[in-house]
Amino acid sequence: MSRFLEAAVCGVLAALCLAGPVRAGDAAAGEKVFNRCKACHAVGEDARNRVGPELNELVGRIAGTADGYKYSPSMQKAGADGLVWSLETLSTFLADPKTMVTGTKMGFAGLRKPADIDNVIAYLETFSKAADAGEVKSEPKEKKTEATPEKPVAQQPAKAANAAASSGGEGAGEHFHLGRVATAAEVAAWDIDVRPDGLGLPEGHGTVAQGEKIFDESCASCHGDFGEAIGRWPVLAGGQGTLRDDRPVKTVGSYWPYLSTVYDYIRRAMPFGNARSLSDDDVYALTAYVLYLNDIVTDEDFELSKSNFTTIRLPNQDNFIQDDREQEPEYADKGDPCMKNCVEGAARISMHAEVLDVTPEEKGDDKKPSAGIE
Ligand code: HEC
Ligand code: HEC
Repeated sequence: MSRFLEAAVCGVLAALCLAGPVRAGDAAAGEKVFNRCKACHAVGEDARNRVGPELNELVGRIAGTADGYKYSPSMQKAGADGLVWSLETLSTFLADPKTMVTGTKMGFAGLRKPADIDNVIAYLETFSKAADAGEVKSEPKEKKTEATPEKPVAQQPAKAANAAASSGGEGAGEHFHLGRVATAAEVAAWDIDVRPDGLGLPEGHGTVAQGEKIFDESCASCHGDFGEAIGRWPVLAGGQGTLRDDRPVKTVGSYWPYLSTVYDYIRRAMPFGNARSLSDDDVYALTAYVLYLNDIVTDEDFELSKSNFTTIRLPNQDNFIQDDREQEPEYADKGDPCMKNCVEGAARISMHAEVLDVTPEEKGDDKKPSAGIE
């Protein structure tokens, strides 16, 4: 509607127009402007709080009072001090949010063009029943900050993201608006790694005898009664002295450097197909039993616990060394490796992949890509 037409309508229906200030905003154009708010705000049916509060019934709302939304202290204070969203206050706010509400967490620099401001307000008005009547919701609502049992680790979007959004343009940053921040309980559930020095071990304990019982029930069907393995499932015991053989048998006893890996592995991944079903005590007992199967402990009553865990050393630990290529005698003399034009003269094909028998045969295709360049 043009300004002229609106003025004319107001002339005829003065009573209607007096109810509120005359705005030239065009709601349809405002819908497009609202695309810049959409990353953070929703309106309409089913609108929910997102990065910012839902904006239904905005006109007449006391600032900082959308149900269930966690506002910045600044916005809450602005509302408590009497800021009510009207066409005027919205105009001021949307032109420069951070000047009007210092400390707001709205990561948005503001709309530069007055027409955009008018239009987006006109659009938002269409979702506000109170807009024309000039009503104000009577009481600020109790804020439901304690509604969720598990509080997200970080409740406010990262400051950096906010900064990026306000300097880089509307809707930038704010974690791309995908997913949500993991809760402390979720992080704890994933954060189960155990270090060789014992950091990360849970409280708990279990004996070899207890472990044997669980092993027979939940592990032996694949790994064999004595860790010797059924069929081609992994071997868990034996293999000592085979590491230099053509086919070394690498087990916890013959090869693994640290017991922490055994605990971590069983706890994280076993029994295969039913991971994370074991209690921490079960895992201590099973780890003790795997030690027993490998003759690293020999007493059935041996109890492994958080407190004695790091006293156990696996036999092969010392053979794991820092692999510092620069100083290893094996590599130190060799100088810088050649990275280009390493062959003198023209490259010559010395063998075809077909001869190596790695390429599936196909009739009438003699010129296969070659492998092996001399
Ligand atoms: C990057 C995210 C983001 C964008 C983009 C954004 N806002 Fe916000 N907005 C917020 C956040 C967060 C708040 C809560 C501010 C606070 O608590 O300090 C907010 C608050 C508001 C409020 C106050 C609401 C209330 O209940 O008190 C209004 C009005 C508002 N925004 C309008 C808009 C409009 C209109 C646009 C688009 C032109 C827009 N916002 C763009 C994040 C954003
Ligand atoms: C359904 C068969 C199956 C069952 C049951 C099973 N495992 Fe496993 N286990 C596997 C497979 C498969 C791997 C190797 C997984 C891989 O390499 O990704 C493995 C690997 C392991 C390893 C590491 C072995 C190595 O040297 O890499 C340990 C230790 C282990 N299992 C312990 C257990 C314990 C303890 C139980 C009982 C609570 C158990 N497993 C039950 C199939 C099984």
